[in-house]
Amino acid sequence: MKLAIDCQGLSKRFGTYTAVQGVTFQIPPGTIMGFVGPNGAGKTTIIRMLCGVLVPTEGQATVLDYDVLTQPEEIKQRIGYMSQKFSLYEDLMVSENLDFYAGVYSLRGKNARAEKTRVIKLLGLEDRTSQLVYALSGGWKQRVALGCALLHGPQLLILDEPTSGVDPVSRRFFWDLIHQLAKEGMTILVSTHYMDEAETCDYLGFIFYGRLIAFGSPAEMKLREAKDNLDDLFIYYVEHEAADDPRNLTLKKWGRG
Ligand SMILES: Nc1ncnc2c1ncn2[C@@H]1O[C@H](COP(=O)(O)OP(=O)(O)O)[C@@H](O)[C@H]1O
Ligand SMILES: [Mg+2]
Repeated sequence: MKLAIDCQGLSKRFGTYTAVQGVTFQIPPGTIMGFVGPNGAGKTTIIRMLCGVLVPTEGQATVLDYDVLTQPEEIKQRIGYMSQKFSLYEDLMVSENLDFYAGVYSLRGKNARAEKTRVIKLLGLEDRTSQLVYALSGGWKQRVALGCALLHGPQLLILDEPTSGVDPVSRRFFWDLIHQLAKEGMTILVSTHYMDEAETCDYLGFIFYGRLIAFGSPAEMKLREAKDNLDDLFIYYVEHEAADDPRNLTLKKWGRG
């Protein structure tokens, strides 16, 4: 497999509204790709198309060499997806949530128990297994959700804003683990609002009004536009886009007007 994700001109319209327009990028296996962009930019919509759960209006993409249009089931089996909303059962214990997701991924018997034990250790959940999920803090819930997404040993992990509203210690834990998994060969696609997180990605995509307005490694992107930090770089791109935008977006919206 040369590319973990090969996305060519992907677009999505909801009725007359264009949520995603002509998104093209490629990432090799074992790398971390970050999406950065304001709320409503289209990050989740792109992610859902790549997961094979939302049919693109235009364009094509292969994920782990499978076509999102014709082979969505092959994709779903091989990826771990942590959605933006909590996907856990709040009234079940941590352990029961893991059992439930093991079932969803068709893990049975000895194999299911082994994977569950592996994930509990990986996420440091040993002392939490018999706690009800609703009683956990946001950071711990996210750990459990990540554990559920890793049970079947996915080749690609897709995380939609996994650290939004999560405390700094959990955030650090999360990202250390993401880097460890990538070192072991897993590909990671992650959306985030935190530029310190974005900085550590191998590739970054800035998403703005449904379009990928910049793509590259953080270092080469900063070098290209002679900016020394990602915040300035992002604002620079947004100002460029805003100047061309027919909706005449003002930067007041960004607190810069
Ligand atoms: N199922 C849907 N029907 C109509 N509009 C949608 C739907 N899903 C998302 N949108 C719209 O598409 C745009 C992009 O949304 P989304 O992908 O969730 O952005 P982000 O994840 O970057 O915050 C938003 O304006 C949102 O309201
Ligand atoms: Mg979103």
